[in-house]
Amino acid sequence: MTSGDRKFNVVIAGGGSTYTPGIVKMMLQHQADFPLASITLYDNDPDRQSVLGEALAIVMREEAPEVAFAYTTDPETAFTGKDFCMAHIRVGGYPMRQQDERIPLKHGCVGQETCGAGGIAYGMRSITGMLEIIDYMERYAPDCWMLNYSNPASIVAEACRVLRPTSKVINICDMPVGTRRRMSYIVGKEYDDLDVRYFGLNHFGWWTSVKDVHTGKDYLPQLLEYVGENGYLTQAAIDAQHMDESWQATHKKARDLVAVDPQFLPNTYLKYYLYPDYVVEHSDPNHTRADEVIEGRERDVFGAAREIVRKGTATGGEFTVDNHASFIVSLARAIAYNTHEVMLCIVENKGAISNFDDDAMVEVPCMVGSDGPEALCQGEIPTFERGLMQEQLAVEKLVVEAYIEKSYLKMWQALTLSKTIPSATVAKAILDDLIEANKGWWPELS
Ligand code: NAD
Ligand code: G6P
Ligand code: MN
Repeated sequence: MTSGDRKFNVVIAGGGSTYTPGIVKMMLQHQADFPLASITLYDNDPDRQSVLGEALAIVMREEAPEVAFAYTTDPETAFTGKDFCMAHIRVGGYPMRQQDERIPLKHGCVGQETCGAGGIAYGMRSITGMLEIIDYMERYAPDCWMLNYSNPASIVAEACRVLRPTSKVINICDMPVGTRRRMSYIVGKEYDDLDVRYFGLNHFGWWTSVKDVHTGKDYLPQLLEYVGENGYLTQAAIDAQHMDESWQATHKKARDLVAVDPQFLPNTYLKYYLYPDYVVEHSDPNHTRADEVIEGRERDVFGAAREIVRKGTATGGEFTVDNHASFIVSLARAIAYNTHEVMLCIVENKGAISNFDDDAMVEVPCMVGSDGPEALCQGEIPTFERGLMQEQLAVEKLVVEAYIEKSYLKMWQALTLSKTIPSATVAKAILDDLIEANKGWWPELS
C-alpha cells in the first residue's frame, strides 16, 4: 500500500460496540497523519448500532464533514473498497458474557470474560462470528487488513491461524498498552520513552525488560520494587479505561503476581491463573463484571449517544478516547505508512520465543510495516513461565480443535486442563451447563 496523499477507508465491525465512539474520535484526531476518505460502521444488530451511528453522524458532521460516514448491516456495503477493518465484535453480547462468568462461578471456578471456562465458552461463540466477518472482508475487500480486538484474542488468533491461515488479520490486545502507560507514569516518563521486551500468550505474559529508549536506563528493578508493593496502582487517574473499582483491585493484585515470580513484570490477567481461589472468593456469582459493564460503560456510552442525538449536537464532548483507541489507530498508521514501529501483536511464534512451540500464537513485540507484523526475537524463557504457557496453549489449541471437530471430548479436556478448574468432574459439570446455555451459539458437540 502506498501512502502519498492517499486517504483511507475504514470499516468498524461491531459498530455497536462501546468502543466504537472512542475509535472514531481518535481517528478524527489523526486526520493529519492518518487521513480518511470514509468511516463505515458495520454490525449485525441494527438497533444497537443505530444508537451510536446516529450520534456519530452528528459528530462527523460537526468535526469532519469532509470524511464520508455511514452505518449499515449490509456486509457488501460495509466492506467494499475498505483498506482497514477495525473489528471488535461480541458474539452473544453481554447476556452471554453474564452466562460465561456466572456458570463457572456456580461451580466454584473463575468466571471471567477471556480466562478459564468463561473464555473457553466465549471462544466457541467468537470463532463463528470472526470467520463470518473475515469472509465478508475477503469477498468484498480482498486487500483489506483486519485489525482485531474481538475476544478471546488468543483463541480467536489460533482459530485464524488454523482456519484462515492466509487472511490479513492481526489480533491485538490493549492490556499491555494500558499497563505500560501505568509503568511510564510510575517512572516519571512518557509512554513512548519506554523500550520493552515482552513474551507470552494473550492475557498471559510478562515484561522482561523496560528501558529508557533514549538513555538505555533500566527501569525493571524500580518497577519490580514498586509493583511488588503496590501492584500497578497509581495515585493519579492516568487513563479513562480500567478505572472501575474491580479494575483497581486487579491492578493491585499484580503485587502478589510479583511475589511468586519476582523476575518479570506480569500481565494483570495472570491473577486468574495463579490466584483462582482468591478470585472466586472475591466474586459474586449473581453480579459479575458483565453486570458492572452494563451498569457502567455501556450505560455511559449509549447514554452519551442518546444525549447527542437529543441535543442535535456533540459540542459537549460526551465521548472519551483512551489507550484502546490510540493503539488500533497507531497500528493502522504503521501499516499504511510502513513505519516499522514496534508494538505487541499476537502472531505465530516461529522461533520468536526460542524454546516454545513454533505454531503457538504468542504475544510479542513486533515491527509493523506495510506487510504486517514481524515478530522480534525474545529468546529463551524460564521453566516456570514456560510450564504455565505450555498448559494454557494446550487449552487454547484443544478449544479450536473441539470447534472444528465438534468434539465434546476435546472440550472436556480443554476445561480439565485449564489451571482455573480443579478436576475432570468439575470440568464436565461446567461443560454440560455451558452447552445448555450456548445452544444456537456453539457447534453441536458429540
Ligand atoms: P459490545 O457488546 O458493546 O459490542 C460488540 C458489538 O458486536 C455489538 O454491537 C454486537 O451487536 C456486535 N456483533 C456481535 N456479533 C457480530 C457479528 N457476527 N457481526 C457483526 N457485529 C457483531 O462489546 P464491547 O464491550 O464493546 O466489546 C467489543 C469486543 O471487543 C469484545 O469482544 C471485547 O472482548 C473486545 N475487547 C477486546 C480488547 C482486547 O484487548 N483485545 C479490549 C477491549 C474490548
Ligand atoms: C482489557 C483487556 C480486554 C478486555 C477488557 C475487558 O482491556 O485487554 O481484552 O476485553 O479489558 O474490560 P471490561 O471492562 O469489559 O471487563
Ligand atoms: Mn485484551
